[in-house]
Amino acid sequence: MSAPNETFLLGERLFSPEDLSSIVARVAGQIDADYQGVGESLVLLGVLKGALYFLSDLSRRIQAPHQIDLIGARSYDGTQSTGAVAITKSPDTDLTGKHVIVVEDIYDTGRTLATIEDYLRRHEARSVALCSLFAKRRGPVFPANLRYIGAEIDDRFIVGYGLDCDEAWRHLPYVAVLTSPSIADPS
Ligand code: HPA
Ligand code: MG
Repeated sequence: MSAPNETFLLGERLFSPEDLSSIVARVAGQIDADYQGVGESLVLLGVLKGALYFLSDLSRRIQAPHQIDLIGARSYDGTQSTGAVAITKSPDTDLTGKHVIVVEDIYDTGRTLATIEDYLRRHEARSVALCSLFAKRRGPVFPANLRYIGAEIDDRFIVGYGLDCDEAWRHLPYVAVLTSPSIADPS
C-alpha cells in the first residue's frame, strides 16, 4: 500500500480508555488466580509492537511477581495478511524453564501465535499460555491454548491502543474501527 493513511478513516469507537482499563483489570485477575506462587519464573512476553500498550498496563495490574520481555514477529502488511510469519526479534532473556504468557494485541489468523509458540517450545519454556487483548470471531471456536481473551470482536479492522495500520494510529487511547471512504460511500 503506498499511501494508506489517505485512504482510510477512523470509524466507530468500540472501546473507550475506561473499557480497556476494565478489560486489563479482568485479565490481570485471571492471570493472578492461575499463576499464584510461581514466583520469578513467570514471564510476560509481549509481541512487538502492537502489544506494548496492553503489556505495560497488564504488567502493572498483575500482582504475581513476573518479568517482562519482548519478541518480534511479522505477518501483516497493512490490512492484508501475507501468510508468512518470521521472528524478527528474539527475547533478551533465557526463557528455558520459565512459565511464559505470550501477550498479543489481536488474535486473527493465529499464525503469529503459532510461530511464537513453536519458538518457545524449541527454547524449552516450562509452560506457554496465550493472552490476546482482542480475538476476531472468524471460526466457531478459538484454540484451547488461547487462554486469556480481553474481548471478542467481529471481523473488522481496528486501530488504537497499540493496534496499527501501517504504523499509524497506535497511539490512540481508545480503539476504533478503520473504514475506507469507498466502503462508507460506494459512489
Ligand atoms: N487491526 C490491526 N492489526 C491487525 C488487525 C486489526 O484489526 N487484525 C490483524 N492485525
Ligand atoms: Mg500491525
